[in-house]
Amino acid sequence: MHLEGFHAVKHALRFAPALVREVAVADPAAALALAADLAPDVGPWLADAVVRPVAHHTGVEAVARRPAPDACVLRARTSPLVVLDAPRSGGNAGAVVRVAAAAGASGVALSGGTLDPWGADVLRGSAGLHYALPVLGGVGPTDVRGPVVVLDAGGEDVPLPAGAVLVVGSERHGLSPAWRDRADAVLSLPMREGVSSLNLATAVAAALYRSSGRPPSSRSSAAPVRPVSSISDIGGSAT
Ligand SMILES: C[S@@+](CC[C@H](N)C(=O)[O-])C[C@H]1O[C@@H](n2cnc3c(N)ncnc32)[C@H](O)[C@@H]1O
Repeated sequence: MHLEGFHAVKHALRFAPALVREVAVADPAAALALAADLAPDVGPWLADAVVRPVAHHTGVEAVARRPAPDACVLRARTSPLVVLDAPRSGGNAGAVVRVAAAAGASGVALSGGTLDPWGADVLRGSAGLHYALPVLGGVGPTDVRGPVVVLDAGGEDVPLPAGAVLVVGSERHGLSPAWRDRADAVLSLPMREGVSSLNLATAVAAALYRSSGRPPSSRSSAAPVRPVSSISDIGGSAT
């Protein structure tokens, strides 16, 4: 797989370093400065990178192996598995992988349609977070076990069990009859009158965060955030 840009390479290195074959940088000093600024944990890998021209504007790219498909998540899981029912846009599918990884979902599976779950557009949209959780293709309604909750604007305000399969419909046609028939519950996210639907990645984000509370905080490279102790802290003048 070709990983384009600093963030995609960073995520692959953090979550699956054994799969990363070659890291390349256009300008070693600039790449190390970027790592020092944004992600010091990946600095040592960039220091050892091959130096050659790189098309991405961050001057960083990598080649990585695609992991073997981990189909265990289809049978059992401790956080939701997200299924995309025949998505059309690689960017949307990538955004779903990204938010699923962030929210601590068990995996993402594509069902039907022609999109390759590991296609270049999808990988670009996920910022390399395909390496943080299983991303599968060719999964149908009879392949999954556990409660199936489908997302649809015409449903109800139902809970999302931790081990659920959360199914989201396609951009144009919504949910297919096969997944509707397999559904144990239909979850609807409230919208203001006149709005017909949410973007599918936005719907997945809202559903996952609505039910999960905080995702597992296994690691963080972010600087500590100062707690806000009063409302004046929020609107106060800059110091
Ligand atoms: C862009 S919408 C699809 C709109 C499509 N024209 C339709 O008829 O359903 C993509 C998917 O996002 C999910 N979705 C969008 N808005 C939603 C809402 N308010 N509540 C629950 N799911 C929603 C549904 O799974 C939907 O199939």
